[in-house]
Amino acid sequence: MVLPAALVYSCLLLPLLFSSSLCSPLISTNPTPATWPPQFHAILYMNTNGTLQKVDLWYDWPNGRNFNIIQNQLGQLLYDLEWDNGTSYIYTLDSDRECRVLHFPVGILGPSWLEGANYLGQQYMDGFLCNVWEKVDFIWYYEDVVSKVPVYWAFYNGMTAHVMTFEVGRVLDDPNWQAPVYCFMDAEEEKKPLVQSSVGPHGSLMKGVMGVLKVL
Ligand SMILES: *[C@@H]1O[C@H](CO)[C@@H](O)[C@H](O)[C@H]1NC(C)=O
Ligand SMILES: *[C@@H]1O[C@H](CO)[C@@H](O)[C@H](O)[C@H]1NC(C)=O
Repeated sequence: MVLPAALVYSCLLLPLLFSSSLCSPLISTNPTPATWPPQFHAILYMNTNGTLQKVDLWYDWPNGRNFNIIQNQLGQLLYDLEWDNGTSYIYTLDSDRECRVLHFPVGILGPSWLEGANYLGQQYMDGFLCNVWEKVDFIWYYEDVVSKVPVYWAFYNGMTAHVMTFEVGRVLDDPNWQAPVYCFMDAEEEKKPLVQSSVGPHGSLMKGVMGVLKVL
């Protein structure tokens, strides 16, 4: 855990001026979020103003890739495959054979993307006692106090994610990372009818977080 220089400094000086008991509570009330494991699989339940999605999240930082497989409730199954070079493929694997290729100016989130978040204290979420942080008024992040596993996060626009499973080190086999051939066939992206609002909203928001974080 890296302490801000100012905090270390005040902890060195404060005991000279006041009681040393001022220092230790300062330290213990400012935990930092655990860095993400370089590879994991999580199942998320997303709720956006009552619209429900189940997301299989395959985070694979060493291979520069991230996958959101999004099941809309009683609706479309969408694949949102993101590469660290900024290219994302959003497609279906059903008979519609839809695909959209998007180019983002930023790659996928690094494991320490929560660095610098503001600690807000402890709160129960989904029955788990959590440490809570906020970053750039964009995301609120809840992590189990004991296990350090994320329990929940919420974006500024009302989109929330409940973490149902979190398997550290689990990797999706390579063949699954191959976008279908119709993603590469022509430059007809515009006429592919994938609805923007259902196109990997979670992935897009994470991209948004990245964009915001890298600009700041
Ligand atoms: C980024 O990487 C993916 C996967 O290797 C590739 O399909 C895509 O064309 C690359 N994009 C760019 C802009 O190089
Ligand atoms: C959810 O509802 C809030 C409040 O009405 C609104 O501001 C927000 O844009 C909505 N979010 C989405 C993703 O539609």
